[in-house]
Amino acid sequence: MWVKHFSPFVQGKKMDRSSDEIYMRRAMALAEKGKGFVNPNPLVGAVIVKNDEVIAEGWHEYFGGSHAERNAIKNIENSGKDWTVAGSTMYVTLEPCCHHGKTPPCTEAIIEKGVARVVVGLTDPNPKVAGKGIEQLRKAGLEVVTGVCQEEIKQQNRVFLKYITTQRPWVVMKTAMTLDGKIATGNGDSKWVSGEKSRYRVQAMRAEYMGVMVGIGTVRQDNPMLNVRMIEGARQPIRIIADSRASIPPDSQVCQTAAKQATFIAHTDMAEAEQLESLHKLGVETILCEQIWKKEGKGEQVNLNDLMLKLGVRGIDSILLEGGGELNFSFLEQHLVDEVVAFIAPKYIGGRDAKTPVEGCGWERMADAMTLKDVSVERIGEDIVVHGYPHLSGYCN
Ligand SMILES: NC(=O)c1ccc[n+]([C@@H]2O[C@H](COP(=O)([O-])OP(=O)(O)OC[C@H]3O[C@@H](n4cnc5c(N)ncnc54)[C@H](OP(=O)(O)O)[C@@H]3O)[C@@H](O)[C@H]2O)c1
Repeated sequence: MWVKHFSPFVQGKKMDRSSDEIYMRRAMALAEKGKGFVNPNPLVGAVIVKNDEVIAEGWHEYFGGSHAERNAIKNIENSGKDWTVAGSTMYVTLEPCCHHGKTPPCTEAIIEKGVARVVVGLTDPNPKVAGKGIEQLRKAGLEVVTGVCQEEIKQQNRVFLKYITTQRPWVVMKTAMTLDGKIATGNGDSKWVSGEKSRYRVQAMRAEYMGVMVGIGTVRQDNPMLNVRMIEGARQPIRIIADSRASIPPDSQVCQTAAKQATFIAHTDMAEAEQLESLHKLGVETILCEQIWKKEGKGEQVNLNDLMLKLGVRGIDSILLEGGGELNFSFLEQHLVDEVVAFIAPKYIGGRDAKTPVEGCGWERMADAMTLKDVSVERIGEDIVVHGYPHLSGYCN
């Protein structure tokens, strides 16, 4: 257990708003440790403070596991020290639950153990909680402060917040291109556009989000595995492929490994029953989606809106969209992208047939361009990474 004196700035001082923020930031850092393990649950961290000293910490570690508040309380009880929770302040990033889910209500434990003050970051929008946890604590006579670091916690839990309020996955579009805007050479070679450090980052993103998605064009060209190789113990994402006719070659790597790593093929009713059956035999799950008419003579394709709904029903809260350009454009066009991470490698490959990160029929006027907000730029090794959120995302919180 990690217990340490953590409050050099507040020694001997009365608790005030700024010390609340310091402890809440610590709780947020703990919450972060659940990334990639708790989906579709929220990231939650808790810190218990008594006499200006952190006496215990906890976080929601994995889906179905104990909540942060109970983990923190348990950590005190297992510490072997004669600390008691009674009279303490608990900092928790998300409102404590008050209902019986996979675990008993946290409010019960908090009241029972005699916590005196609870500082909550964000009210839980889950209709089963939604302010009722805070109400229960107040009714039991505890002092409750809310909204500390609220905006940062909303940002940390953006995947959960979208999923719990819309039952649709949060979509992160990741692209990697050269300085001349290409994602592969004219003959389709794309290994590798970005440097090793960027590729490691992408692997970490695959472990963080529940699904990773590509179009059938990418499977045909690259025959990718779409797994996490560089990070030991990481959770493998569910692979999702948009393939209207379910025409994926059964000997592709994703099909051949479907029994070990979940693989979904999103198709329309154009798919042949025989082909679907042979995919099922390999362990591939097929999802029948509505069709959408595509321009440029592409005919009917998978209706991505319908697919998002169906993935949400399956408990998938987040998708890392890895292209290619045709699929990326469809996602953008339908306002289904919530976040963008664009890697730019300092190299040129040229070639008028070389593909770009977003293709499709495009928008006709510059004024119609899909623009990003809250843009930030980072260096990873030799590469530049642009991060932002599309102005026109179907979801606005
Ligand atoms: N550098 C990178 O970051 C990166 C990442 C990924 C891919 N790539 C490269 O990109 C190239 C492949 O890209 P691509 O654009 O040809 O293929 P793609 O986007 O991977 O796949 C497009 C195909 O997906 C199917 N699809 C089903 N529903 C769709 C929908 N609603 N909207 C759009 N497509 C839908 C369509 O085939 P059906 O009509 O048959 O269903 C469509 O032709 C490869 O060369 C690959 O190496 C590079």
